[in-house]
Amino acid sequence: QRAQAADDYAQMQQVARYFSHQLRHHENSARVIDYLKGRGLSGDIVKQFQIGYAPPQWDGVLSTFGQKSAARTQLRDLKLINRNDQGREYDFFRDRIMFPIRDRRGRVVGFGGRILEGDGPKYLNSPETRIFHKGRELFGFYEARQAHRQLPQAVIVEGYMDVVALAQHGIDYAVASLGTATTTEQLQMLFRATSRVVCCYDGDRAGRDAAWRALENALPLLKDGLELAFLFLPDGEDPDSLVRQEGQQKFSQRLQGAQSFTDYFFGHLIDSLDMSLANDAGKSNLLKQAKPLIERVASEFYRELMLERLAQLLGRETSQLNSHFQRPQQSRY
Ligand code: GTP
Ligand code: MN
Ligand code: MN
Ligand code: MN
Ligand code: MN
Repeated sequence: QRAQAADDYAQMQQVARYFSHQLRHHENSARVIDYLKGRGLSGDIVKQFQIGYAPPQWDGVLSTFGQKSAARTQLRDLKLINRNDQGREYDFFRDRIMFPIRDRRGRVVGFGGRILEGDGPKYLNSPETRIFHKGRELFGFYEARQAHRQLPQAVIVEGYMDVVALAQHGIDYAVASLGTATTTEQLQMLFRATSRVVCCYDGDRAGRDAAWRALENALPLLKDGLELAFLFLPDGEDPDSLVRQEGQQKFSQRLQGAQSFTDYFFGHLIDSLDMSLANDAGKSNLLKQAKPLIERVASEFYRELMLERLAQLLGRETSQLNSHFQRPQQSRY
């Protein structure tokens, strides 16, 4: 099984090299490189992330790597090729900009593919395979660790282009979670590499929802000395669009000024209450919403801080609230 895994990683690496070769040598090369240039990316950054191009034909990977039947089985297992109902095989990624997703040791475990233009979903991501588990990987983590053994901070963003554009502007410690929610496992990976994590999702509904879910997933990890912060972007912006407009310095200032998780926590809960805090029912509702979440916070110090804030908001003494709270269960993190 270990031999098979080693072989899987080798195959994925080969395919990443193939895509990166196609980026420079395919007949569509000029069009693809123009697109990347148009998005502000330099050749160096493209190399650093080993960004590539999946050619449009249906048998690019298939004919290059799938001569033998055993190899085709492996390519199917790795979701690099598909087989239709008639038994015909074809490439999974076609005519897309390819972002290799590496695990923390630098092994390629999956790909994200962006369409250049035209119809179809904007991004196509490798499905999970025996070597690729989305909730455990972070796009850009390996590249960030190559730049810094200990990260000065980590910025979690939504998209591949956000990670790459930030790196292009010298903010080379951004990572993207793959799919929607940022998991506790991903946050744990980051808190092992740095003590400050800033969540910076798109300035839209989906981004704001993702922020709250990340906060919930981070609570059991918040030990003393660790900082979690939230940077909310103007409507319609994402880290890529903003850093290109504003440049590194302004974006870094935004990161420095990110909202503490406690401010965001109470701000969000109060905003989402459908009652006024001037009413007893509103106060009781805030207590009900906040209590189970505060109990999940790992650090006793952070719990106390949050309890004090909650007491203030409810117009009570902290000691009057204490009886409502229990010590948190032993967390497994
Ligand atoms: P750009 O237009 O290239 O700047 O994309 P973006 O990175 O800003 O993408 P967007 O904000 O739309 O989505 C953020 C992330 O969600 C992407 O990087 C993808 O990982 C994922 N995503 C976006 N669109 C799709 C889609 O159509 N299908 C899937 N499976 N994932 C998507
Ligand atoms: Mn899995
Ligand atoms: Mn978005
Ligand atoms: Mn976006
Ligand atoms: Mn974008």
